[in-house]
Amino acid sequence: MKGVILAGGTGSRLFPLTKVTNKHLLPVYDKPMIYYPLECMAKAGIDEVLLVTGGNNAGDFIRLLGNGREFGLKELHYTYQDGAGGIAQALGLAEHFADGGSICLILGDNILEYAIKDCCNRFRHQGQGAKILLSQVENPKAYGVAEMEGDRVVKIVEKPKEPKSNWAVIGVYFYDKNVFEIVRTLKPSARNELEITDVNNAYIQRGEMTADQVNGFWADAGENIDFYLKACNTVAQNGANKEASSK
Ligand code: G1P
Repeated sequence: MKGVILAGGTGSRLFPLTKVTNKHLLPVYDKPMIYYPLECMAKAGIDEVLLVTGGNNAGDFIRLLGNGREFGLKELHYTYQDGAGGIAQALGLAEHFADGGSICLILGDNILEYAIKDCCNRFRHQGQGAKILLSQVENPKAYGVAEMEGDRVVKIVEKPKEPKSNWAVIGVYFYDKNVFEIVRTLKPSARNELEITDVNNAYIQRGEMTADQVNGFWADAGENIDFYLKACNTVAQNGANKEASSK
């Protein structure tokens, strides 16, 4: 399985920290934010990764990350997203890279306390369809939220006004090769983006979605300045990408 990390966007929620640099280059405790998803991939045994970035700072990623060998990757590839068309549009740029195989997608501002190796193995075993990871949060309105029937996710609603649960769909996803065909069917949302939540709902409708709950903390360090600070402090206190994984 290959990996795709998204590190584009305007970082507007962290302005003015992001006025002259890309959000994913900001420090989280003692490392640039983008190190965490890269380490997460490497620790899950995913050693061919495509980094999708955009904006004015694309060259800085090459200076910082080079060929990825320092992180234990075999190959680190780069591509460029013009404008900010959303997560699913950025994912669409990975079709040739994926080359008909499955992929693990991680949003570059998502940080996990524990490695995701077990989830990867379960998805490999699953063989097709998709897998999402869920984390319980106090502010579900800020995320994609899973509506549950028992252990089953029946629908995901992006940033609901009245969340039906407090299970956030975190920015780590597993997809089979059909994801690119689904991306092509999407229409832009009210925020004029191709939504990853629409991709996930398509898999749910096909009856091909599984969900795992993550253990330990999950942080979306790009959510806003308070969550960014909290992510820095939590990583300083607990570490990140530690061995052991989700249920
Ligand atoms: C995105 C997704 C959302 C998900 C979140 C996780 O939100 O759209 O479903 O819960 O990432 O970090 P965004 O950060 O683009 O607002």
